[in-house]
Amino acid sequence: MPRKIATRRSTIHGNGMFAVASIEKGERLIEYKGRRRTHAEVDEGDSGDVDSGHTFLFTLNDEYVIDANFDGNSARWINHSCAPNCEAVLEEDDGDDRRKDRVFIEAIRDIAPGEELSYNYGIRLEEKHTKELKKIWECRCGSPDCTGTMLQPKKDKSEKKKKKDKKKKKGKGKKD
Ligand SMILES: C[S@@+](CC[C@H](N)C(=O)[O-])C[C@H]1O[C@@H](n2cnc3c(N)ncnc32)[C@H](O)[C@@H]1O
Ligand SMILES: [Zn+2]
Repeated sequence: MPRKIATRRSTIHGNGMFAVASIEKGERLIEYKGRRRTHAEVDEGDSGDVDSGHTFLFTLNDEYVIDANFDGNSARWINHSCAPNCEAVLEEDDGDDRRKDRVFIEAIRDIAPGEELSYNYGIRLEEKHTKELKKIWECRCGSPDCTGTMLQPKKDKSEKKKKKDKKKKKGKGKKD
């Protein structure tokens, strides 16, 4: 079957992947391939550009990251969007070896030929979203719903407060 997707220059950033035929909602388009490396290994190394935020890394699970700088395929060209037409789906292996978990990119709606493929990278940072970080992770997806950043919002403060209150109550319950 001819491939339905191809790599082209993107108006979002650098290269992107595009539909070259009609794609139906739910179609599995490509696997995100690359070398399995531990978080510690990746954090020590130079697989991402900290100044530009450019990365081919995909967090696979608590133990491993997929580093598409090595043995990667064209899935590494798919850009982030705040209004994506695809999603990254994790397929956990039945065994204990978390390296065998895999990630596939699937369409979440029908996609017409010529449309750029995108998914939400779901990047969450523990640290404060400083001006510098916001600049590094600035989103240029161009969608009317663009949040301006590839970073996902921090947990809602009111949600945090609710949790805190709940904890307090639980603590009280034990003491009483
Ligand atoms: C997996 S690569 C995607 C391919 C990339 N366009 C390229 O040519 O290398 C991820 C990087 O592309 C850039 N990128 C992806 N989506 C973006 C977006 N919506 N806005 C700005 N930069 C984006 C960021 O530098 C990000 O770290
Ligand atoms: Zn955006």
